Amino acid sequence: MSQTVLVTGGAGYVGSHAVVALLERGYSVVVVDNLTNSSREALRRAEKIAGSSPVFIQGDIRDVSLLSTIFNEFDIDLVMHFAGLKSVGESVSRPLDYHEVNVAGTISLCQVMQSASVFNLVFSSSATVYGEPSSMPIRETFPTGKPTNPYGRSKLLVEQILEDLAHSDERWSIGVLRYFNPVGAHPSGLIGEDPKGIPNNLLPYVSQVAVGKLPRLKVFGNDYPTSDGTGVRDYIHVVDLVQGHLDALRVLPDMNGVHVWNLGTGKGYSVLQTVEAFAKVSGCEVPFEFCERREGDIAECWADPAKAYKELGWQARFGIEKMVEDAWRWQRLNPDGYVDQ
Ligand code: NAD
Ligand code: UFG
Repeated sequence: MSQTVLVTGGAGYVGSHAVVALLERGYSVVVVDNLTNSSREALRRAEKIAGSSPVFIQGDIRDVSLLSTIFNEFDIDLVMHFAGLKSVGESVSRPLDYHEVNVAGTISLCQVMQSASVFNLVFSSSATVYGEPSSMPIRETFPTGKPTNPYGRSKLLVEQILEDLAHSDERWSIGVLRYFNPVGAHPSGLIGEDPKGIPNNLLPYVSQVAVGKLPRLKVFGNDYPTSDGTGVRDYIHVVDLVQGHLDALRVLPDMNGVHVWNLGTGKGYSVLQTVEAFAKVSGCEVPFEFCERREGDIAECWADPAKAYKELGWQARFGIEKMVEDAWRWQRLNPDGYVDQ
């Protein structure tokens, strides 16, 4: 019989790609999402790609009685926990919301999992927990830093809570996946990243400039100590990222405790290199201007993904060209994102 995975935040950007991958590999999938930053249409499209359907429950991970009902009704084996708020800037003006959803929401989820004796959890963390490391590439053994915003603090707090939890009961098997910079879209062009309003992140912003929705990119700083002065990041294709979750899900039940894995390619690209790759693939001009550095940004950030390779057999397959090609196909086919019907 197939295993059942509860996917929190399954209608979101990374979650919807995970739903496709899980369904394609024969898992039964139950999604809980309150749709605050996503659309029901994403799951309809996921069904179309995978040829089968997840169960969808619209609801909030802070709602313990709803979660209990879900665990009573479905025989959940494993949980992939994507639900959360993720805008760094917004977290500064709404810290209570960020801590309530990201931290308290995770606590509620773990409480209900514990009552239901479900102890396998994959959690979406972020490279932001490393703060500003003194060298590159970043290994999992690097100390966690001092996050500069409530979003980053909420991720670090959850990691610490999960450590305490696993310490309290050896039945827990928890994978903490520290994402570098997820980009790209499913190659079908049916699902992708659909930011509300003006995008904060580089690739969605560049896509909207290329499609003519925004006039030009503001490059935040060209005086960093990097090859061309602009910020360097480890962009990772969302399909590769999701494969890392499936690999973690496979090994976790045989590993007790908390296991941390970096999910990145191990290569860094500057803002200008990324813009150049986008212009080449799309054939569109991407006008840009240099501006002040953005507060809280670091010069460079890229992963050493060797631990994930060694322990999960996982490595990223797609390079920057494939990432921008798929991001561009999604943007071109869906210039206004998902239009819910
Ligand atoms: P997303 O916003 O597209 O997806 C999150 C989903 O959670 C959305 O569908 C949203 O509606 C849902 N959600 C929010 N609050 C909820 C609540 N209280 N109850 C139920 N559902 C709720 O974000 P994403 O890019 O898919 O990110 C997924 C996870 O990965 C998040 O935890 C995020 O912090 C983490 N992460 C993302 C990135 C990135 O750059 N995308 C980087 C590092 C870590
Ligand atoms: N950038 C610009 N102009 C823009 C947007 C971004 O020049 O309009 C630059 C940034 O300064 C940075 C690079 O492009 O050098 C990437 O910026 P993003 O906003 O796309 O990504 P970040 O690395 O700042 O942050 C992302 C996620 C965070 C996560 C972090 C670490 O948004 O949630 O990666 O994993 F915490």
